[in-house]
Amino acid sequence: MKASLIAPDLGQQPISVTRKMAASLPGLRQMAMDKGLKMHHLGAGYPHPEVTDPRAFLEHKSRYFEHLASGVNNPQDVPEYLRESYSYTDTLGPKSVRENFAAVYGADWQVAMNADYLLPTLGASGGINLMCSLFERPGVDLAYLTDAPTYAGFIARAQLASQARIYSVEMDNEGPIVASLTSQIEQARADGRLVPFYYTVPDGHNPAGFSFSKTRRKEILDVMREYGVLIVEDAPYVYISYADEDARPQPFFAMDPTATIHLFTGSKIGFPGPRVGFLYTEARVQIKDAEIIDLKDLLLTESSADILFHNPEALHGFDSLLHDDTMQLRDSLWPIAETKLAVYRENREIIMDGLSEGLGSYAAHCSWTEPEAGFFTVFRFHDKRIRTDDAFIERLVAEYGIVVIPMYNFYPEDARHRDPNAGLDELRLSFCFSESFGEQRRLDLKQAVAAFCDAVKEIADIG
Ligand SMILES: Cc1ncc(COP(=O)(O)O)c(C=O)c1O
Repeated sequence: MKASLIAPDLGQQPISVTRKMAASLPGLRQMAMDKGLKMHHLGAGYPHPEVTDPRAFLEHKSRYFEHLASGVNNPQDVPEYLRESYSYTDTLGPKSVRENFAAVYGADWQVAMNADYLLPTLGASGGINLMCSLFERPGVDLAYLTDAPTYAGFIARAQLASQARIYSVEMDNEGPIVASLTSQIEQARADGRLVPFYYTVPDGHNPAGFSFSKTRRKEILDVMREYGVLIVEDAPYVYISYADEDARPQPFFAMDPTATIHLFTGSKIGFPGPRVGFLYTEARVQIKDAEIIDLKDLLLTESSADILFHNPEALHGFDSLLHDDTMQLRDSLWPIAETKLAVYRENREIIMDGLSEGLGSYAAHCSWTEPEAGFFTVFRFHDKRIRTDDAFIERLVAEYGIVVIPMYNFYPEDARHRDPNAGLDELRLSFCFSESFGEQRRLDLKQAVAAFCDAVKEIADIG
């Protein structure tokens, strides 16, 4: 067949691990069902349906909108929020929403946030895209510094630009290894590349299943300041936290907002569908002619050439979450988080207890992370003969009905080059999603973890 366009440089991008899994799932599921196996979900990283039923939110949002409309004296006049919700907005979105968010979020993390330094994004994904796009535009060779493993969405976005290469850094159980961070920055610079930022997920790391220690955060910040590299802090799980209030680590932006680009998303504390997110940074950048300007101004110009207009109705809807039942601005988002946390905390406990019960006495053979935040734990086989490759994952579904995600794809190419076995002893188990609610959810998850432990014992030939 004749091509409609000849574009020899347009190579096919690698397909993401989650899409690959989603595509193969129906066939594998059928295979498992044909054998009479129950499907056990430990794979999907989506928010649980039990905490994303939008009906109560929609009711609250309507009441909030009525509250906003109540200030209008003449019933013929269109209330300001309504006019704004269905008009073209500014790239910055409605000012009131930014001001309210800055007040509430700033209070939660003890940062005097300036609403003028907040930029709406399409979720955290939009923030990642904006940061990459800003630095890719001048066309210089780039090094994106990140963890090994790192968030699949970041790898996918970084791979879009042929002038960018990922320089990744292995982690221990406190975070990235600091000496590797510095050596990767130095290597990238020696390779003639600009190193604009280090992208990471310090709280509830996806996919690594742990949070960085306070000490390591401080060390990372010191190194980034010393080398003049920004920190892009992707923070979807800061509120999905299992730590006691006084033990919660400070996010990077609370430690130094001039060194950090913080990516907030409404997807986990609220809902993923409306695609609400905010980028916050007080960083300043020296551009040509030694001129120093706010990074947020560069990002705003970039954003206005990209998304240009946000969905103001979605932003006003998010604003309703910042208000309580009496329509007062909240002091904190933690009470909202608590409605979600009740389910995730319970799920986490079921997974942790189940793994301890089933495999706690086989510490020589396997181990797993204890997530202080987020949706995931990483399970590790110690027997090097076991390889958690695609065939292994397919076998888990087809023979045991268990869906988990392999880790090797989350390791950037350079990490797999350094160690061809990177991630091939690991699995990502998620405890955020199941198809059932309440008591059935608990039961399903208990059965899932028990089935997983039995499968591990059989495969690893232990117990
Ligand atoms: C680390 C990380 N970043 C970004 C996202 C995407 O979030 P959003 O819906 O805000 O784009 C996710 C979603 O799971 C995530 O885990």
